[in-house]
Amino acid sequence: MASSKLLRVVLQTSVRRSYCSPPGQPSAVFRPRRALLFVAGNDEKKIRKVPTLDVDCVVLDCEDAVALSKKDEARTTVRRMLEEVDFGRTECAVRINSVDSGLADDDLSAILQAKKLPSAILLPKVESVEEMQTFAASLNDAVAGIESNPTFDLFALLESAKGLMNLQPILQETVSLSDMSPFRLAALCFGSEDFAADIGASRTSDATELIYARQMVVLAAKAFGLQAFDYVSVDYKDTESLRRQAEEGARFGFTGKSVIHPFQVPIVQQAFSPSPERVVWARGLIQAFQQHQQEGKGSFEYEGKMIYKPGLLQAQNILQIAQSAGL
Ligand code: COA
Ligand code: MG
Repeated sequence: MASSKLLRVVLQTSVRRSYCSPPGQPSAVFRPRRALLFVAGNDEKKIRKVPTLDVDCVVLDCEDAVALSKKDEARTTVRRMLEEVDFGRTECAVRINSVDSGLADDDLSAILQAKKLPSAILLPKVESVEEMQTFAASLNDAVAGIESNPTFDLFALLESAKGLMNLQPILQETVSLSDMSPFRLAALCFGSEDFAADIGASRTSDATELIYARQMVVLAAKAFGLQAFDYVSVDYKDTESLRRQAEEGARFGFTGKSVIHPFQVPIVQQAFSPSPERVVWARGLIQAFQQHQQEGKGSFEYEGKMIYKPGLLQAQNILQIAQSAGL
């Protein structure tokens, strides 16, 4: 193979391995979701505040932020807010109730009647292959009458030992269900509070009790070409701990983090954005990589460190995030 063609193959293979779209699914434009701001679906005042918060993604919640007696109110409010509020650059996701709760069908059928639909659905407490099959059937039913043939990005929330232990078959089944259903599996989220309660762990501020589970979520997400969202830091007034936790999540390989309060948005979005110096480093590395490939060198020295193909992947990830976040 001619060397320029070979170089193209090396660069393209690397891009395909970065988190963009799951194997077997159509590739989609990478959408930055550095912070996902949760807001209770029945809290109209807070929802109307979202467009002022410059957040990448809002999650209008019908699940645990909403009391059982307010579920109907949350569905109708979410539907109305989708139609009435101009969220600007902020992507809109809706968290429905879990399949197990028996409330998910009512959530879907009420919310998907909105004239403006959310672009993503967050499904909580994912634990089994059967649940994903039920969810796919429910979503197919809910979109049956919608003329625009919508497709939703799906965020699967893992928050139990069972969900994590079943992760691989769940993801395989979800990817294959998406061929026949109006969703594209886009991300895995980790739910720390339910997870800690499920395994009987005590939550600490350095979150050592969560490390193994968080790394499982990142590994599975990357194996399936998905984004990965780290846990909510519930101690939202402690901004220093939040910064530390968000920077750690970014180092682990998460691509974003769930948040619950406007204070948290800029801190988290900054932690998940590459710095200008890092972007310059990445651009230079890619250029140097191309040059050394042409000279027949697979590894080389760049800014004092040995670089080979994994360095190229890291640099491409950084540029992808920077470009899609408009940095
Ligand atoms: N989304 C949008 N706006 C929010 C918000 C959110 N999640 N949380 C707070 N705000 C707004 C408040 O309405 C207030 O607006 P104002 O200044 O215009 O009156 C401002 O931000 C400051 O809020 P503050 O008074 O500090 O907080 P609060 O007492 O109103 O609310 C919580 C505190 C924790 C109840 C609230 O942040 C919340 O409901 N978060 C989401 C909880 C959730 O979804 N949990 C489940 C998912 S894990
Ligand atoms: Mg939960």
